[in-house]
Amino acid sequence: MGGITSLTRMWLTRSVNPFLFRNEWDPQLPFAGCSQLGLYIHIPFCRQICHFCPYCKVLYEKERCERYVDALLEEIDLVGRQAEGKKQVTSLYFGGGTPALVADRLGEILSRTERYFTITQGIGVELHPENVTPPVLEALKEAGVTKLSIGVQSFRPKFQSVLGRSAVDGAELARALAAVPFETVSMDFIFALPGQTFEDLRSDIDAAFALGANHVAIYPFIDFTFTDSRVPAMPNGEKRRLLDRITAYCLGKGYVRTSIWTFSSRKGAVYSSMTRTNFLGFGCSAATLLEEQFKINTFSVEAYCQRLAAGQLPTALTLRFSRRQRMVYYLFWAAYGTRVDPREFEAFFGEKLEKQYGLELKLAQALGYLEVRDGTYVMTPKGAFTYHYYENFYTLSYIDKMWGILRKEAFPGEIRL
Ligand SMILES: C[S@@+](CC[C@H](N)C(=O)[O-])C[C@H]1O[C@@H](n2cnc3c(N)ncnc32)[C@H](O)[C@@H]1O
Ligand code: SF4
Repeated sequence: MGGITSLTRMWLTRSVNPFLFRNEWDPQLPFAGCSQLGLYIHIPFCRQICHFCPYCKVLYEKERCERYVDALLEEIDLVGRQAEGKKQVTSLYFGGGTPALVADRLGEILSRTERYFTITQGIGVELHPENVTPPVLEALKEAGVTKLSIGVQSFRPKFQSVLGRSAVDGAELARALAAVPFETVSMDFIFALPGQTFEDLRSDIDAAFALGANHVAIYPFIDFTFTDSRVPAMPNGEKRRLLDRITAYCLGKGYVRTSIWTFSSRKGAVYSSMTRTNFLGFGCSAATLLEEQFKINTFSVEAYCQRLAAGQLPTALTLRFSRRQRMVYYLFWAAYGTRVDPREFEAFFGEKLEKQYGLELKLAQALGYLEVRDGTYVMTPKGAFTYHYYENFYTLSYIDKMWGILRKEAFPGEIRL
């Protein structure tokens, strides 16, 4: 598995050098000149911990959570102050963990953020289904939130019990969502659970849209090595058949594919905290992607608070990209959105995409993975499945390794991927 990702990396970056993450941090982040900059804020607290979940989180305790939010405000100040005037950004996403656990301080976090940044395309928040109540939704709306992403996972109680979660009451969700409407309402589902059929997924997707969602994310179950997951993996052939049928079903209903695993029923309904050219991340485990570097904050809540109490940024690791590495990173996330626009690539890198990757693009077209529509490379369903299949290797070789180490060490020495 590691072999496939290493060979692909060497081929596409035209170099044997790995992605090298060092224990380095810079007091200044060069984001002032970045276009298409997004923001992400991580809230690493949950009421209970799900055994399959790889994200950075700890059990909720009020006192620790309050200290964390104080440190978060400090980090926003430290970074935000670096730009002159207010920096325009596309969006702000809150992820977790369970961001609703800080609903009472969301207004404070947002007004601190808006002191330095003007958000032009909306504010999104991830919710656990038990957060979807009129009082919580009203508090979010009042604070300026425009997009929700609800972690349903499945409406079928048998799959909730495989995941160790409680059944979700669809009627309750629908009532709350109808009482307090939002521009984008996305629901997350997990597919490739043991015994799960196309009919199970189709009924989940239909239920989501009927209950008030206008966007769905259908993620393949990933068995991270460092979690205590007790969910057996589905064989690849079966996974492929499922993904093909879900895709055909959603496209047949007229839903728009907004990324490899997401579909929307209404134009403009998008929820994506990853597919942005540049982003600044705040909070534990949050990543920052700029023109020449990628940074990731410490996963330890205590180390995070200590760094900020000392007036320092909580960066754990920094990757300084070679130009080719940056291109590969850019293309990986553009491809996740199922399209690569060569004009946008040229605007970002000042070089023609075809000059850098002409052979690969021709090969991908000849193999039926890509087609050109209005001057943009658009992934075919076959290309999307290949990407989905490859992304599994990437997640297990890169993310699994990096997060596995960062969960144990607040500031690891070096990681080579
Ligand atoms: C941070 S969680 C969602 C928000 C909220 N904490 C919740 O549990 O509902 C983000 C999403 O990641 C997905 N996810 C978590 N662990 C996963 C895994 N092992 N494989 C695939 N998707 C996973 C789930 O769909 C989940 O809704
Ligand atoms: S799936 Fe959600 S609630 Fe469960 S541990 Fe992960 S972040 Fe927390």
